Amino acid sequence: MKGAAITLDRHLREADGQGRDLPEGLAALLSALAGASKILARQVRRAALSGSLGYSGGVNVTGDSQKKLDVIANETVLEAVASTGLVAAVVSEELKGAKALADQGEARYILCTDPLDGSSNTDINGAVGTIFGIYPRAADGPVDEVRDLLRRGSEQIAAGYVMYGPATVLVYTAGDGVFGFTLDEDAGTFVLTHDRIRCPSRGHYYSANLGHLKEWRPGIRKFVEHLTERDPSTGRPYSLRYVGALVADLHRGLIEGGLYFYPADEGHANGKLRLLYECAPLAFVVEQAGGRASTGAQRILEVRAESIHQRVPLVIGSALDVELYETFMRREP
Ligand code: AHG
Ligand code: MN
Ligand code: MN
Repeated sequence: MKGAAITLDRHLREADGQGRDLPEGLAALLSALAGASKILARQVRRAALSGSLGYSGGVNVTGDSQKKLDVIANETVLEAVASTGLVAAVVSEELKGAKALADQGEARYILCTDPLDGSSNTDINGAVGTIFGIYPRAADGPVDEVRDLLRRGSEQIAAGYVMYGPATVLVYTAGDGVFGFTLDEDAGTFVLTHDRIRCPSRGHYYSANLGHLKEWRPGIRKFVEHLTERDPSTGRPYSLRYVGALVADLHRGLIEGGLYFYPADEGHANGKLRLLYECAPLAFVVEQAGGRASTGAQRILEVRAESIHQRVPLVIGSALDVELYETFMRREP
């Protein structure tokens, strides 16, 4: 890279200078999450060497068999944010209930996290990620589940993800654009490599688990048929890409355009993905980049959580592609 690199810490510190006032403590919290992801990047990379591949023997509250790396990732994120004293409670895929961390005046945030997204990829050296969404406390005092945790995604003040791929990439928004950083492993710092990311309005890729095609609603099956028809004027057929890690599939859509969807199927009445720590944070990022995220019928950021591990159908990515999916759903008889 030419010129002086802008590290994540500098970017967060100078936010004010760029007219991007971050609420108090948010820079420190984002920095702590970045710290956790540096540790995790190493743990993921060394998992086969350190005996951390495979299952832990436990099952999490959403019914998934936990990988050892799920447990490690959860502990790593919790430790990092607990040390800041800025987080009152954490909602995590790997925790049955919310974990209260601190109730002093400084603990002004709620963190929702999927510590390790795509954990079916761990044992095959595939991409995985970490997702985070940050809410301001609704009120002082002890954490109240309804007021503090059962939120609408539109109340987030920051959100982002880390992708552990060939490089470790951290992407975040604090409500004024989307910024992507690549981990310079030699320096141990995240460096700004993707300034003010814009999601192309239309792409050429779609990502979905087509193994469930026959179980999807007719409108979605018709949409897939449409994508696979040849029409060079609209860039069809779209190519299929499916990593099996939402973060990785979404990252492609964010950079190159396209869409990801996980609708309801026979095994998943509300889809598979969890609202608070998968869909809402990524919806915030994608909207900030000019993209779109919905259940197919409602904007994700407007869905108020009814329980902390609630699932919702998701379609996310390029605005025009997501709109077209919604149109096919509406056209259903
Ligand atoms: P997690 O590993 O956090 O449970 O998330 C897995 C999610 C998501 O990342 C991925 O896109 C999807 O589940 C894959 O599900 P299928 O194997 O059903 O396609
Ligand atoms: Mn996940
Ligand atoms: Mn996970």
